Amino acid sequence: MSIMQSIMETAARFLPDKERDLLMDREGYVGKSLTRVDARAKVKGEARFTAEFNISNLSHAVLVHSTIAKGKAVRIETGPAERAAGVLAVITHENVPEMKAPPNPDFSDLGKGFALSNLPIMRDADIYWDGQPVAVIVAETLEQAEYAASLVHVEYETGTPVVSFENTKTEAVVPHDILGEPPEIKIGDVNQGMARAEVSVDHVYRTPRYNHNAIESHATIAVWNNDGGLTVYDATQSVNLTAHTLAYVFDLKREDVRVIAPFVGGGFGGKVGLWSHIALCAAAAKFVSRPVKLALSREGVFRAIGGRTVSEQRVALGATKGGELTALIHTGITATTADTRYAEQCTFPARHLYASPNLFVGQKMVCLDTVANTWMRAPGESIGTFALESSIDELAYELKMDPIELRRVNEPTKDPTKDTEFSSRQLMEAYRRGAEKFGWGTRNTAPRSQKDGKWLVGQGVATAYYPYFRFPAKASLRISVDGSAIVQTPAAEMGMGTATAQIQHAADRLGLPIDRVSFEYGDSKLPDTPIMAGGSNQTATIFAAVQAAVEEAHRELMKLAHKRSDSPLAGAKYEQVEARNGGLFRVGAEQGETYSTILEKAGQAFIEVETSSGLPMELMKYSMASYGAQFCEVRVHEETGEVRVSRWLGSFDCGKIVNPTTGVSQLRGGIVMGIGMALTEETLFDERRGRIMNPSLAEYHVPVNLDVPHIEIIYNDIPDEHAPAGARGIGEIGITGVAASIANAVFHATGKRIRDLPITLDKLL
Ligand code: MOS
Repeated sequence: MSIMQSIMETAARFLPDKERDLLMDREGYVGKSLTRVDARAKVKGEARFTAEFNISNLSHAVLVHSTIAKGKAVRIETGPAERAAGVLAVITHENVPEMKAPPNPDFSDLGKGFALSNLPIMRDADIYWDGQPVAVIVAETLEQAEYAASLVHVEYETGTPVVSFENTKTEAVVPHDILGEPPEIKIGDVNQGMARAEVSVDHVYRTPRYNHNAIESHATIAVWNNDGGLTVYDATQSVNLTAHTLAYVFDLKREDVRVIAPFVGGGFGGKVGLWSHIALCAAAAKFVSRPVKLALSREGVFRAIGGRTVSEQRVALGATKGGELTALIHTGITATTADTRYAEQCTFPARHLYASPNLFVGQKMVCLDTVANTWMRAPGESIGTFALESSIDELAYELKMDPIELRRVNEPTKDPTKDTEFSSRQLMEAYRRGAEKFGWGTRNTAPRSQKDGKWLVGQGVATAYYPYFRFPAKASLRISVDGSAIVQTPAAEMGMGTATAQIQHAADRLGLPIDRVSFEYGDSKLPDTPIMAGGSNQTATIFAAVQAAVEEAHRELMKLAHKRSDSPLAGAKYEQVEARNGGLFRVGAEQGETYSTILEKAGQAFIEVETSSGLPMELMKYSMASYGAQFCEVRVHEETGEVRVSRWLGSFDCGKIVNPTTGVSQLRGGIVMGIGMALTEETLFDERRGRIMNPSLAEYHVPVNLDVPHIEIIYNDIPDEHAPAGARGIGEIGITGVAASIANAVFHATGKRIRDLPITLDKLL
């Protein structure tokens, strides 16, 4: 942790809490199941996704990817491709327009924009990974571009890539920091703690590489305007960050770049930073002086977009016979690239979940010659909870103790490593409610004790955990004389219900009927503020910005009302009024005026504010996270080893659930992705040459409908007083704990402990 950060955290502890957010105690739209505002547009096919924009004079680009992991493209034969029908250009490092290498993420200054890799894009003949773009073909049609791409012949000078995790892990290094957190934390003496233990477990867990497979593959359309400005339609989780990064790469003024993304078909972390194809699309459009569309093929996503790192983690737990931890060790090695240096935070859950007098968490990383690894739904927490929550289960069996009871015994009263209070942590309540609903207590606890014909049946449970994030951000708000309001932020809607949740929240704050409020997003020309749909932060981030904007607008409206002595608000202080019935009214009294009346009498058509939320002081003062308990039942075929998930119940503690319809859907989606992580998904990576061998949905198996049982979701719905409107994040927590819960259920069913994902049938025979 930086010195500055620790000073701020210490200072934050002495600050008084913000006053309780009144919205938390009011009946309103927040908390209600409302249909998505864009449901109709989506069902009717009217919602426009990036590749669907109808741009006149559009041409089509296709990438040629390197087939070696390191070396040089010494000669690229472009002639046949250039002569092919419809081809407008064949672009290589020899003729590509000038681009600067993009910057890596810097969370203290998101406004600079960022990419996951800071490698120069196609600047020279150097090859850094298998799959790296080495040429861009632009043609009149997609088919012509694809055909021409097949004619490009690249002669390589092959270097020796470092691509084997197995061979390099002994040389792993401790990263400087992990997302601003220390890479290692030591409390007490774990060796003494392990020596003092009456029961202990100590095992290594492995997770494979995983790749992004959002239903909408990555796509970009770039249009250079006559005045030198750039307009880009891009499937991105942040129009604002993409605009800043493109401005940087092409040396343009920020206001000369506009990025548009009204709808994104899933992102999961794979569409946050700038990837090379986005810049190459813009470069190609510049080259041919025409609009260009570059939509990655499914294989292209595997080649050009990073996924989740491979990991090897050790968890060692020591405990007394009563189950009290005497030591907790969680260490891990993950892979990254020299141009990224992103160590996936797999030890983060172990920093916050259990009380132990002795603790050591520490991570190392190795740098390989691959595409930059990146965020993928609950990076760190998903694979980290697999190791930690499997180990807790292993300890429970050693102790002959119920695994929920073991967790209860070690439930901390304050954060184990930050030494701060929890803002709100009702994990045990989630366990209690989940266990009751699932019927946890009724099972036969002995491994391999439940059978249904040839199927061995088992139940498992594991903790879900994902931290709360919020970033300072701006929102603009316009209230018009007709009694309507518009909120604007450059937010992303990837299918999770952002616009719907934001309208619910704004309507409550403004005291307006929901159909009088609209939410504009997905366009970087909206307020310039680094909003991104990542880290499960977007809802809280925008809520805080809207809260600030509404307060400012209300103060402005009060000033207008105070100019008239006949106003029922005359003499009222801001603290004495509340928003309801379309206006401002004295608390507990009839007197007040609608927004329409105030504006009309002031002779104004509207009032408009643009306001910033403050720093997330709540995060410095408290340990804040969402929690949950993942219960499942699996059936393992005795003869074939086939694993079927037959029941699921997720019981969550995420603060206030803003919209149960969209929220439950988010949590379910996370669990589906977790089932894939546990049982079916695995990037097959050739460790000899560094090439992904299964870059298609035919060979990379995401779970399909028949792999997923009905998923029941329950939640505490206890508002977190320190989060805007009481709501913490829900986007990523769903995937956490899922793989451990399944592995624990598989052990219960079969007596076999699988510590190596995915749990495929060969490992069970
Ligand atoms: Mo999330 S992995 O930050 O989209």
